[in-house]
Amino acid sequence: MSEAGGIASVLLLFFHVLLFSGKVDSATFTILNKCSYTVWPGILSGAGTPPLSTTGFALQPGRSEAISVPSSWSGRLWGRTLCAQNATSGRFACATGDCGSPTVECLGSGAVPPATLAEFTLDGAGRLDFYDVSLVDGYNLPMSVDPRGGKGGNCTATGCAADMNARCPKELQVNVNGGCVACRSACDAFGDPKYCCSGAYATPDTCKPSVYSEFLKRECPRAYSYAYDDGTSTFTCASADYVVTFCPSPSTSVKTAADQQSGVAPASDSSAPAALSSLQASASDRRGPKPPPFVAPFVLAAVWQLLQLLRL
Ligand SMILES: *[C@@H]1O[C@H](CO)[C@@H](O)[C@H](O)[C@H]1NC(C)=O
Ligand SMILES: *[C@@H]1O[C@H](CO)[C@@H](O)[C@H](O)[C@H]1NC(C)=O
Repeated sequence: MSEAGGIASVLLLFFHVLLFSGKVDSATFTILNKCSYTVWPGILSGAGTPPLSTTGFALQPGRSEAISVPSSWSGRLWGRTLCAQNATSGRFACATGDCGSPTVECLGSGAVPPATLAEFTLDGAGRLDFYDVSLVDGYNLPMSVDPRGGKGGNCTATGCAADMNARCPKELQVNVNGGCVACRSACDAFGDPKYCCSGAYATPDTCKPSVYSEFLKRECPRAYSYAYDDGTSTFTCASADYVVTFCPSPSTSVKTAADQQSGVAPASDSSAPAALSSLQASASDRRGPKPPPFVAPFVLAAVWQLLQLLRL
């Protein structure tokens, strides 16, 4: 090791101690797979936020994995389905939520749409965590985010427990072997600025819910259904840990008689946990501003650049 490298290492250690010793506020994400099939979670840290100990792994049915998340972390988390390693090329790939990396770890790549996303900004404005479950990039599996032990804000479970693959309109379906495995967003499927909230529709005033986003909102009232759905879809909490669950409600492959009559999403199933049945509750009374952009990462970026310079 060169002398500069040695100095850099010492500095790195110093900054680690500096950054992480005062960090009493780190959170734990417990990722739980209640699906009847294996899910491969993917994790993407926001630009300038520290990466987590893993960016992707396999989670068998019924299993959970706890991940320590530093304070002020921001990023997103999703589930990949129908994954396999190609026997000839050795590449790992998934039918839904693939991150394009050749390995199980996503290594800094995000999900290829359509994918249900859980989004987090920890310790944002007012020291609050901001979190949501978004269907803006489409849907591939049911998912919930459930804060534990937090306080303040509107600290409740959110997500989309409904099986939207079973309800996906024909023109949005992603089919594998004749079965719908994911549901594209209208923006992704048609590229229309009206659906994408782009171009002339790039403001909350001009981009309105569409027939597609309204359909999503009916089934999953707490999830983002289009880009400016903030008021009813962003949740806040202080000092919480989070349980991220894939397939939070019981399997929906067999519809109940009640479902068929009313067309109500199966998350209202009485055997679903209380927090999740509340996902079905009306959210029309909720309004509020978008959280201001996140600022803390600049400190880390500066430290990183300093280290890069010293390595020369
Ligand atoms: C595996 O990789 C080979 C070579 O890249 C490709 O031709 C083949 O289609 C892949 N198989 C599957 C099942 O994706
Ligand atoms: C939760 O609170 C935040 C502000 O802290 C607000 O912006 C948001 O609209 C609220 N979400 C819901 C669903 O009421």
